[in-house]
Amino acid sequence: MAEIETPVESYLAAGRERRIATFGDFLRIPSVSADPAFAADVHRAAEWLGERLRTAGLDHVDVSETGGHPMVYADWLGAAGAPTVVVYGHYDVQPPDPLAEWTSPPFEPAVVGHRILARGASDDKSNISIFIEAVQALLATRGRLPVNLRFVFEGEEEAGSEHLEEWLEANRERLGGDIAIISDVGFFEGNLPALTIALRGIMSAEITVTGPFQDVHSGVYGGAIANPVNALATIIAALKGPDGRIRIPGFYDDVVPLSDDDRAAYAALPFDDDAYREFLGVPELVGEAGHTTLERKSGRPTLDINGIWGGYQGEGGKTIIPGRAGAKLTCRLVPDQDPGRIFEGLKAFIEEIAPPGVRVRVEPQGGGHPIRSSIDHWAVDAAAKALEDTFGRPPLFIREGGSIPFVATFEQALGLPVVLMGFMPPDGNFHAPNEWMDLDNFEAGIRAVIRVFDGFAASAP
Ligand code: BES
Ligand code: ZN
Repeated sequence: MAEIETPVESYLAAGRERRIATFGDFLRIPSVSADPAFAADVHRAAEWLGERLRTAGLDHVDVSETGGHPMVYADWLGAAGAPTVVVYGHYDVQPPDPLAEWTSPPFEPAVVGHRILARGASDDKSNISIFIEAVQALLATRGRLPVNLRFVFEGEEEAGSEHLEEWLEANRERLGGDIAIISDVGFFEGNLPALTIALRGIMSAEITVTGPFQDVHSGVYGGAIANPVNALATIIAALKGPDGRIRIPGFYDDVVPLSDDDRAAYAALPFDDDAYREFLGVPELVGEAGHTTLERKSGRPTLDINGIWGGYQGEGGKTIIPGRAGAKLTCRLVPDQDPGRIFEGLKAFIEEIAPPGVRVRVEPQGGGHPIRSSIDHWAVDAAAKALEDTFGRPPLFIREGGSIPFVATFEQALGLPVVLMGFMPPDGNFHAPNEWMDLDNFEAGIRAVIRVFDGFAASAP
């Protein structure tokens, strides 16, 4: 790793243990936004973060209530004439289940070699922590930052960012700037530094199928009534064809096909299908016909069931026709698909194909638009150079399959160009058991962020 200027590097060289301990304190707070049982913990994480920002030397630290979880804001605006950078991240995390599959408890961070394991270790507490450490190191050594900075940390990204738009509208005056860094992304396969240039959108829905008034004996009533679990399975099976295409009428209408340039850019990325398949432990990679794995996992839309329930799940058997069944479903969307229109299409199609004898409800659970950002911007050049100087190779420009509903809202509300930059490992088990962060990348990331800020100051027009 190339070193940065001496006083900052000396400051950083002496503080690694403290930084890991501070990161550990953050990871210990179970800020699970989707589950109301953790609401007080999410709140505690917001307060912790506010305090952390004060310690780092930021001004105007504000933990503000929304109709959901708090937003955390802080700034440092002492660089007259320099650009103003708005940095976004989120301090909430996904639920830790299934707990039994963790090698150490999800909210007791464990350092194993150069990895730290905990829920949120990568997504997204790593990125937030890296930025705060970079700011702290700069303020402690230089007494100032090279740019003006506003931090915006959200507490419900993992639960659909429901209250964000309202907060943005109400806080417009303190969100002015020249550039936004969305730091909720990471590196490419093989731990290669990357800048993200596209995110998929998302449409979330829940399907409920209701049959008899309650579970009933399958011998006594079987043959006379429809089974909600069978009916749900019939519906789900009809949503996709064997060619991997989604069968909802109109689903592909607004999809902008990948251009020759897009496909060439995908083909130029160093990606090994076999290694990817082996990492995942699947016998075969499967998806939409006519597209490569990389195209399918970020440049094409998908439909997946995320959870399904109904009937007896306990030990042994139980001969019933379940009274109800349900499933959680998400579609990943690409430009120019609209989550609202996709939901309407899904609902109409399910109502049309629903088998007789059951009642079916399809309800929206939120969504977010896909985004594509330009790489033709001074801030992208400066970020790319900072990554190259830190990690010894130029970053790859990648399209990410995940979603950050905030980004489109943010772009629209504030009209700022965005740079999507972060340090999460590509195989960091986000949303899954044994999530981890690479502590070497954590340390290098701090140096990279310092270079990004210096680079912005030097290259802003
Ligand atoms: N940080 C992720 C998105 C992401 C994943 C970026 C992988 C880069 C690599 C983000 O926190 C996330 O997971 N978002 C959710 C949004 C959903 C809950 C509305 C997602 O994509 O599932
Ligand atoms: Zn995230």
